[in-house]
Amino acid sequence: MKKLFPLLMLVGLTSFGQEKITLPSPTKFGGMPLMEALAARHSTRKFQTEPIAEQKLGDLLWAAFGFNRANMRTAPSALNKQGVELYVVRPDGAWRYEPQEHALLKVNNDDVRGKTAAMKQQAFAANAPMSIVFVFDTNVIPTIGDRKPNVMEWAKLDTGFAAQNVYLACASMGLGTCARGSFKHDDLAPVLKLAEGKVVTLCMPVGVPED
Ligand SMILES: Cc1cc2nc3c(=O)[nH]c(=O)nc-3n(C[C@H](O)[C@H](O)[C@H](O)COP(=O)(O)O)c2cc1C
Repeated sequence: MKKLFPLLMLVGLTSFGQEKITLPSPTKFGGMPLMEALAARHSTRKFQTEPIAEQKLGDLLWAAFGFNRANMRTAPSALNKQGVELYVVRPDGAWRYEPQEHALLKVNNDDVRGKTAAMKQQAFAANAPMSIVFVFDTNVIPTIGDRKPNVMEWAKLDTGFAAQNVYLACASMGLGTCARGSFKHDDLAPVLKLAEGKVVTLCMPVGVPED
């Protein structure tokens, strides 16, 4: 029973009937020393099929852009607007990470992993047990005086900080990942049910490395 526990999920329904998984509290101690994680960090493109246990998934999402202080995150953000949103696509559907609750809310029942792989050579992304899809809410960036900031530049910078957290957390946990820019926003936006002004900025397949 003890061995099974890390794989158990707290699945429920929100008051709107949306499927919800409450993730186990993030592990905020231990892991690999930072310099060793940096030494181990690399891109992986071959994954085993085994799914990622909920504890590791929750730890990864928290590392990427969870709350580590009251209202503040594990990665910096321009103007502290915290516009990065994380989605998880895996065989049981597409899920949005809710960082305040440390939970996943289902947005699609279908397996849409293939939608992250815009090109044939990128099929490895469709076959990984899951991908994290980074979305940026451009609505959060205000006009400053008479100057509109270059929103996409900020979106990509904010995404980069969170993405490096995923690389390092994966290295620490013995998981593999790869930053991927070769996706089409228009393939992903409808299946993730993205609202106007939300843009897909990066995809990162995650799995146990094949070798
Ligand atoms: C913004 C960005 C986009 C990338 N897009 C892809 C991609 O679409 N497909 C892919 O296989 N690798 C992609 N990569 C991974 C790079 O190819 C990889 O980081 C680089 O070759 C260095 O290898 P390393 O990460 O193992 O150090 C991307 C990396 C970054 C930072």
